[in-house]
Amino acid sequence: MKKIIVLILLVALVPAYLFYQKNNAKVEEPAKEMVQETTPSPVATMYSIADVEKHSTKEDCWLAIEGKVYDVTKVTTSGKHPGGEAILEGCGKDATVLFNTRPMGSGTSHSDKARSSLANFIIGDLSK
Ligand code: HEM
Repeated sequence: MKKIIVLILLVALVPAYLFYQKNNAKVEEPAKEMVQETTPSPVATMYSIADVEKHSTKEDCWLAIEGKVYDVTKVTTSGKHPGGEAILEGCGKDATVLFNTRPMGSGTSHSDKARSSLANFIIGDLSK
């Protein structure tokens, strides 16, 4: 008889307990960045030409083109630049003229495709 009572209690209490748990489950706090206003800063990161000059090697190559600063290390180290090592000429410099004239290549500017791929490497603006 005792066994039956215990069984009945279990059958009644377990679902009741589970129901209680479900309805009183603690609501997780949303992550801070999900509720905080994240207005992007209107101030772009500024780099001087002296900053750019510190990154003048194949393994660490920044260059400036038309007032923007790019970290193209991924391009220089991957060996995937279609113009090969010519890009290294621009590392650590304002490479606007090099990019637009390719004196060691066709002597013409890069294609629109090459120009738009620059967006993948932008890190800031060149300060005057
Ligand atoms: C400023 C330094 C750079 C120099 C001197 C340079 C030079 C060259 C040269 C010589 C070629 C071979 C084709 C030809 O002679 O006309 C070439 C092709 C190419 N380069 Fe560069 N390059 C530079 C930077 C870059 C950067 C930063 C990118 C992109 C992130 C890039 C993307 C390309 C692409 C996609 C091509 C294939 C042809 C085209 O679409 O214009 N280059 N580059």
